[in-house]
Amino acid sequence: MLISIEKKYKELYNEKPLLVRSPGRVNIIGEHTDYNEGFVLPAAIDKAIYVAVGKRADEAIHLFSVDYKEAYQVLLSEIQPTKTWATYILGVVHQLVQRGYSIGGFNLVIDGDIPIGSGLSSSAAVECATVFALNELFSLGIDKMEMVQIAQKAEHEYAGVMCGIMDQFASMFGKKDQLIKLDCRSLEYQYEPLRLDGYKLVLFNTNVKHSLASSEYNIRRQQCEQGVAWVKMLYPEVNSLRDISMLMLDECVLPKDTLIYKRCKFVVEEIQRLLEACEYLEKGDIVSLGKKMFETHRGLSKEYEVSCKELDYLVDAVKGNHAVVGSRMMGGGFGGCTINIIKEGAIEEIAAMLCTEYKKVMQLDLITHVVAIGDGTAIQYL
Ligand code: GLA
Repeated sequence: MLISIEKKYKELYNEKPLLVRSPGRVNIIGEHTDYNEGFVLPAAIDKAIYVAVGKRADEAIHLFSVDYKEAYQVLLSEIQPTKTWATYILGVVHQLVQRGYSIGGFNLVIDGDIPIGSGLSSSAAVECATVFALNELFSLGIDKMEMVQIAQKAEHEYAGVMCGIMDQFASMFGKKDQLIKLDCRSLEYQYEPLRLDGYKLVLFNTNVKHSLASSEYNIRRQQCEQGVAWVKMLYPEVNSLRDISMLMLDECVLPKDTLIYKRCKFVVEEIQRLLEACEYLEKGDIVSLGKKMFETHRGLSKEYEVSCKELDYLVDAVKGNHAVVGSRMMGGGFGGCTINIIKEGAIEEIAAMLCTEYKKVMQLDLITHVVAIGDGTAIQYL
């Protein structure tokens, strides 16, 4: 892939580009907790977006997507959101300009092997790759944490999804064989080795992405904010669901609205679940960690209501299988992948069985990925 993207760049612009790689991510547990100032436990994976960039002498931006075989050109002074793949790149440019960083025209060719719409954060990877590459190209001197914030803001303002910080953080800060335990309130983080002795992380891709995904995501965020506002009326010191207990929810939110209560309850419990899961991880108790993943799925499906029939089907289908210790939907929801912890020797058989059954029931192909945990955003040398 690297060779082909460099070749394409040379063919289009007749010079050697700077190459940057930025990975997708998985998340073991802690879903919809990032924008509620809770914890998350993601890791970068061995699938990535690649960009090849170089400066131009004029003030134009020339983009080319190898995947879509499509070009997009615009003047730096005239960028605006588009409904295409280019919006994630332009969103980053917009943030840089807004923050007063001085950039000029550039060429950029993009390619990657993160399946789009599969909940592996290909959009965060595009944003991180772009900000990293432009920082390098124009010697802007931006540190990684600010790059993450720029990438997240690009998603808010140019893609219209009010995402938390997890995806961009994991893509930028990922480290081989390590999970990142990130406190989304203080942005303090630590790497935790993932020791799965005899088990592997396996993704089953539903191959669906329901159109509800981004609108419902933003609604969930508002519902959480509403819950916090009600608690704050009685407890002015609270700022987020991170500060709120079940007792406070029972007292302040339950009498007002049962739907909002359900949403907030999930988040408060999920923050707690992650902390317990981390203790199991430290003890090497993968079976107990896996049980927490099933609990998370139940909450996401029944209380937070961001699952869908395809995801529920895949989790139910492996429940009770002694080789599968944990399974749940991953990411924002309404499609994408389930993440599973499965005994190494049983993966092939389970994947084959699921694939046949899924096709029969949903009339859809199931794609299996055995995940390796890799490094975060970096320059790629050929
Ligand atoms: C999406 C968002 C993240 C996070 C997850 C849910 O991936 O981009 O910020 O909120 O959903 O955990």
